[in-house]
Amino acid sequence: MKPKHHFLVCMNQRPPGHPRGSCSALGAGSVFEAFRAEVERRELFGTVQVTGTFCMGPCDQGPTVVVYPEGVWYGHVTAADVEELLDTHIQQRGAVERLQIA
Ligand code: FES
Repeated sequence: MKPKHHFLVCMNQRPPGHPRGSCSALGAGSVFEAFRAEVERRELFGTVQVTGTFCMGPCDQGPTVVVYPEGVWYGHVTAADVEELLDTHIQQRGAVERLQIA
């Protein structure tokens, strides 16, 4: 079934000291886990899908999260932001502006 909202969470990992860094080094694992746990807790299967990805580009602003079909890009996302991101998109209240990547 096609989800209504698809959250892509960059899980890319680079070696320690790499000049571009990586979302994994910036805490993407805990962001992904928070999404997974919250989708399960709210029983959002079929409404929300969460997928880990490789690099999506703005590594210096990671962890990066992209939401479709809205086409909204977020940076510096933490596990503490996940509930607000889910609420905002499920309730179709636009985007969480303070986390948006221009
Ligand atoms: S490593 Fe996540 S956007 Fe590049």
